[in-house]
Amino acid sequence: MQINPLTGTLGAEITGADIRNDADWPAIRQAFIDFSVIAIRDQKITPDDHLAFAGRWGEINVNRFFTPLDSNPEIAEVLKEADQTAAVGEAWHTDHSYDSEPAMCSILHAIDLPPYGGDTCFSSMYAAYDALSDGFKDLLDGLNAWHSSRHAFGFVATDHESYETGRLHNPELATQDSLHPVVIKHPLSGRKALYVNPDFTTQIDGLNKDESDAILAFLYTHCQNADFQCRVSWRKGDVTMWDNRATWHKAINDYHGHRRYMHRVTVEGCTLTVA
Ligand code: SIN
Repeated sequence: MQINPLTGTLGAEITGADIRNDADWPAIRQAFIDFSVIAIRDQKITPDDHLAFAGRWGEINVNRFFTPLDSNPEIAEVLKEADQTAAVGEAWHTDHSYDSEPAMCSILHAIDLPPYGGDTCFSSMYAAYDALSDGFKDLLDGLNAWHSSRHAFGFVATDHESYETGRLHNPELATQDSLHPVVIKHPLSGRKALYVNPDFTTQIDGLNKDESDAILAFLYTHCQNADFQCRVSWRKGDVTMWDNRATWHKAINDYHGHRRYMHRVTVEGCTLTVA
C-alpha cells in the first residue's frame, strides 16, 4: 500500500489497498486521522462491501433526504443526470452538521463519472483555525452556533430541481436544529477545528443577527483560502472518505450534459465538545 499526501495541508491518495482486507484497515484508519481526506483508488467493490467498510468506523447514519439505493437503503445515491443542472453538495458544507451528533465521516464510491470534471474539493478546518490570530481564536473559543436542515432540505429549500426529479426526498423531515461549539476539540485527533459551514450554520448563539452574519461571513471567506484545500479528481471505482468534523467539501459542478453517479454512506458521530 502506498499513501501519498495530496497537499501539505490535508488529503492523501492511497493506492494498492483493498477496503475489504482486514490487513489494510489499521493503515487506512491512521491515514484518515492524519490526512482527514483519503482517496482510496481502484476499488472493485459491491454495495455490501461499501457498507461493511463503513461498519468498521461505526454505525451507519442513514441520510433522510437523499434517494436510497433500492438494494441497500443505507446507501444514499448522489446523482446528477446529463439533463440536470444542479449538483448535490455544490456549496461548501460539512455533512449532517444539523444533527445533534453529526456524522463523523462520509464515504463516497464513484460508480459512473463524467468524461471530465466532477472533482470534489475539501478545505481543512484545522488549518483554517490555526491560521487565525490569537485574539480572534479567543473570541471564537467561547461561542456556539446553530445549524439547521430546514432551509437546505425543508419545504423552503431552493433546490427545486432536486425535489422535482426525485433526487431529494422527505422535506417534512427537515426539522433538525442543533447547537455546536464554533471551535471543537476533534474527537479523534484532539486538535482544534472550526465547526461552522455556509450551508447549514444559521446563527451564532447569543449574538444579534448582524454581529453573527459579520463573523460568519469573515470565517467563510477565510475558510475558502486555497492554502487550506485539496482536490480529489475521481477515477471509476475510487472510494474517497472525509472527516466531517475536520473538513468542508464541495462538489464541482462543471460537467453539464454528462452523468455523475456516486454511492454515499455516512457514519454516526458523537456530541461535539468545546476545544
Ligand atoms: C456530498 O456533498 O456529499 C457529495 C460530494 C460529491 O458529490 O462530490
